Amino acid sequence: MTRSPAVPGGAHILVTGGAGFIGSQLVRDVLSRRDGTRITVLDKLTYAGNRANLAPVESDPEQAARFAFVQGDIADPAVVAPLAAEADTIVNAAAETHVDRSILDPEAFLRTGVIGVHVLLEAVRHETERAADGARPAAPRFLQVSTDEVYGSIPAGRSVETDALGPRSPYAAAKAAGELLVRAYHVTYNIDAVVTRGSNTYGPYQHPEKLIPLFVTNALAGAPLPMYGDGMQVRDWLHVADHAAAIDFVLRHAEPGDVLNVAGGTELPNRDVIGRLLAACGRDWSLVRTVPDRPGHDRRYAMDGGRLAALGWRPQVAFDDGLAATVAWYREHPDWIAQSRTADWDAYYARQYAERLERGVAVDEVR
Ligand code: NAD
Ligand code: DAU
Repeated sequence: MTRSPAVPGGAHILVTGGAGFIGSQLVRDVLSRRDGTRITVLDKLTYAGNRANLAPVESDPEQAARFAFVQGDIADPAVVAPLAAEADTIVNAAAETHVDRSILDPEAFLRTGVIGVHVLLEAVRHETERAADGARPAAPRFLQVSTDEVYGSIPAGRSVETDALGPRSPYAAAKAAGELLVRAYHVTYNIDAVVTRGSNTYGPYQHPEKLIPLFVTNALAGAPLPMYGDGMQVRDWLHVADHAAAIDFVLRHAEPGDVLNVAGGTELPNRDVIGRLLAACGRDWSLVRTVPDRPGHDRRYAMDGGRLAALGWRPQVAFDDGLAATVAWYREHPDWIAQSRTADWDAYYARQYAERLERGVAVDEVR
């Protein structure tokens, strides 16, 4: 049975983390439908948050009139409570998201991924009680944006939603903890909550710390590309427009308590991704260095997307098309790249890569 739409035109959606990569895509896509939907973004503007990602909305008078931006922390109840009171739907896309940073400094991951989710859930619980008391027309729907990393490394087969969770990095453990809190609040307090588990996402506006934007921006600049280990780790690639569309679809069609995999359907070893992006950038393998591996590096993620497909959703963007458009976008946006490399970028890059690149060796394209 399909649930009645949580996001009819005219609804008010609170998107936390809406200045980030996936959250801003959702904001841009929903507001550009011009169906009367209003969106408030709550974003702390960490190094990963970028107001420029929302410029297409803020520079369009019709969309700007249906948009509000609040800078703040999802772990701050005083900020969250009044925003939840005004929202029909809450999408939590706020998180610390880079595995390598979680290995260097885990604490912020736990604060946002566990305490922050708890604060959001308390606000949803309160609003659900208010709805039951007749103080608001309906309880809000809460969607937690989660990840395939909660399943851990999958040597064979594909993860289904009922599989046990086995996170293996501080980032993935924080995401799993957040999800478990969501389930606990749904079961215990009967809040209307759903979870999406997305696979590796790529596209425009992604911070250049992640594999594809890092390697594309380095390749365009003629800088070395640090490939971890043998480069045979497998990821399942999902275009960001598809990821945002899946979130929107799940808001409309999932049952309370549902957990849904959002699989990209393009499983590739990193070496294949690197080969394709080098070709799209007009570069060759001479830029690539194999460097010491990420500790605890998950060898393979792979999800079964059948449950979401049975509801009627499938990804639309073919990987080679999405990659070509992504390379073109980074080529055309040098100012965005420079601006996204905020104050901590040089220090982070040196800490993560200086020694690795010193120990790195040239890679033979042939495996
Ligand atoms: P991102 O790093 O680009 O953006 C995260 C945003 O959250 C930033 O704007 C940041 O400022 C904000 N933020 C961080 N801490 C906050 C806090 N305490 N309060 C308010 N805002 C805060 O991340 P992304 O890639 O867009 O990921 C969004 C969500 O999707 C995350 O939950 C992530 O775990 C999940 N996800 C990402 C991918 C991927 O490949 N990028 C895949 C699956 C799931
Ligand atoms: O699978 C979903 C997850 O995908 C999201 O939950 C995370 O937020 C997102 O960061 C991403 O995690 P990964 O660790 O898979 O992505 P990342 O881009 O960091 O790395 C992708 C692969 O590329 C991985 O096998 C590590 C490798 N890599 C990455 C970097 C940054 C390198 O070889 N060199 C690098 O410099």
